[in-house]
Amino acid sequence: MDIIKIENLVKNFPVGKGFFTALNDVNLNFGKGEFAGFVGPSGSGKTTLLNIIGSLDTPSEGRAIVMDKSVSELTHKQSAKLRNEHIGFIFQTYNLLPVYNVYENVEFSLLLQKMSGSERKKAVMQALEWVGLTDKIKSKPNMLSGGECQRVAIARSMVKKPQIVLADEPTANLDSKNSHHILQTMKKLNEELNVTFLFATHDEKVMKYLNRIVTLEDGKVLSDKQNNLKL
Ligand SMILES: Nc1ncnc2c1ncn2[C@@H]1O[C@H](COP(=O)(O)OP(=O)(O)OP(=O)(O)O)[C@@H](O)[C@H]1O
Ligand SMILES: [Mg+2]
Repeated sequence: MDIIKIENLVKNFPVGKGFFTALNDVNLNFGKGEFAGFVGPSGSGKTTLLNIIGSLDTPSEGRAIVMDKSVSELTHKQSAKLRNEHIGFIFQTYNLLPVYNVYENVEFSLLLQKMSGSERKKAVMQALEWVGLTDKIKSKPNMLSGGECQRVAIARSMVKKPQIVLADEPTANLDSKNSHHILQTMKKLNEELNVTFLFATHDEKVMKYLNRIVTLEDGKVLSDKQNNLKL
C-alpha cells in the first residue's frame, strides 16, 4: 500500500502580477519503507514538493495524499496532527530554537505526545546517541558548528520515530565521515522500523544510499529509477 500518492500535482507561486510554476503535473507514488530521494538542479522543485508532502504547503492543482489523507483537504488542526504524530522534518536551514539547548531542541518534538518524563528522556538520549551528540546536550545552537546543528535537526526529526522523514539536504554541512554515519543511522531506522525516508539532495554520498532516485527538472519528473546500492 502506498503511504504517499501525488496525483497531477501543480504548484504555482504568485510572482508580481503573474505566477511561477514550481511543480508541473507531478505524478508519483511511494510505498511504506522506501528510502528515496529527489535530485535535480537548484530551483527544480525539490523543496516545494517535500513541503507539500509534509503538509506545510498545499497544491494549486491536483492532490498529495499522505497516509490516506489529502493534504489540501485537512483543517489547520488536522494537518498539525499529521505532522506532529507521523512526520519528521529536516529542513535545509535547520530551524533550531536558539534559546534552547541541544537536549531541549530534540525534546521539543515529543512535548505534544503523551509520554512519561522518563520515557521521553530515554528517547531523547537515544536520538542524540544516533547522531553522536550526547556530549553536547547543554550547548545552545550558537555554540555549535553547522554540522552539529544539522545533527541536532536530524535527532529532532527522528526522536518520535515517525512514519515518514522528509530530509532536505540533510548532509549539506557534514563532512564525509559524519555523512556516512548519519546515512547509516537513517538506513538502519528505515530497515528496522520501516520508516519511509524522502530526501532532497545534491550529494552523491546520499544518492549512493537511496533505493530510488526521482530526478526533477523545471518542476517536472524527468526520470524515476530504482538504484542498485553501490556501497
Ligand atoms: N514562495 C515562493 N514564491 C515564489 N517562488 C518560489 C517560492 N518558493 C519557491 N519558489 C520558486 O520555485 C522554484 C523551486 O524552488 P525549490 O525551493 O523547490 O527548489 P529546489 O529544487 O529545492 O532548489 P535547491 O536545490 O536550490 O534547494 C524556484 O525557482 C523558486 O524560486
Ligand atoms: Mg531546496
